[in-house]
Amino acid sequence: MRDRLNKIKTQALEAIESSSCEEDLEDIRVKVLGRKGELTMVLKAIGGLPPEERPEVGQLANRLKQEIEQSIKTRRNALKDLHKRPRVEGLDLTLPGRRRQLGRLHPITQVMGEICYIFERMGFTVVHGPEIELDFYNFEALNIPPDHPARDMQDTFYIDDKVLLRTHTSPIQIRAMERQEPPLRIIAPGKVYRCDSDISHTPMFHQVEGLMVDRDISFAGLKGVLTSFIQQIFDPDTPVRFRPSFFPFTEPSAEVDIQCVMCKGEGCRVCSHTGWLEVLGAGMVHPEVFRHVGYDTEEFTGFAFGLGIERIAMLKFGIDDIRLFYDNDLYFLQQF
Ligand code: DAH
Repeated sequence: MRDRLNKIKTQALEAIESSSCEEDLEDIRVKVLGRKGELTMVLKAIGGLPPEERPEVGQLANRLKQEIEQSIKTRRNALKDLHKRPRVEGLDLTLPGRRRQLGRLHPITQVMGEICYIFERMGFTVVHGPEIELDFYNFEALNIPPDHPARDMQDTFYIDDKVLLRTHTSPIQIRAMERQEPPLRIIAPGKVYRCDSDISHTPMFHQVEGLMVDRDISFAGLKGVLTSFIQQIFDPDTPVRFRPSFFPFTEPSAEVDIQCVMCKGEGCRVCSHTGWLEVLGAGMVHPEVFRHVGYDTEEFTGFAFGLGIERIAMLKFGIDDIRLFYDNDLYFLQQF
């Protein structure tokens, strides 16, 4: 009996000492002193002991009961103090906790989302294509013949003769047209790869490709859609100009410039003193491209456009080195 009381004592006092809240203490009280508590059971069993043992064991048990009750009380007050007092043994409980850092979307992801959203509101659907692409989709079906400079080994990462890392998002046009008959209105964002690296080029960057095909699609429609896009992604009064250009997959082709966002057209280092910045390539889909996907070139016309997301993000945020996007420097990324 005495051993049992000793065991109850050590266990109970230890538990009380290490308790950290009111609830812990209450659990201990019930476990030891409750109706079916360990000590209560001992007290109840005393009646069954030989008469000469009863007084001593009874005394021990009652003393232990008082001791435990007292100890619970003391601990309860100590816990209350602990939460009240600002300083406990060199520990400043009023100090704010360590903040957990929140993650956020990468600036490129943000701008890509914004671009897609603008076009989605104009009725375009977002589609995707493979980054490892066949030469056929990346070049041939886009009317880029085998000896075209765009296929130069210096620019394209080839995997073998027929397979490569796509150099632009334009092959997604072809895949979309293969899948679906006109009318078609798609926007295709994604990663593209070119063997190039300096202050304005990274071997991997992002583009968005757009394509709209239907009856009576005109160059005027192209100008309207792209002007509206530019004025939504930049300022609503951004001056825009369309400049004749060349792409193998469009005819006629244009490059689209906005007035320099840095100098407002005055001429500066960023715009090479022209007052304008190129942001888009575009044009009317070349009949040769339609022939590759079996579209009727008499019935349907379409326009296409492509733009670099990093470039738009650099102009929007005033960033002068594209490599900053890929250094994973939190001080840079947290600004967006
Ligand atoms: N694919 C072109 C590039 O990577 C961009 C482009 C220009 C896409 C004109 C188009 C377009 O759809 O019509 O430079």
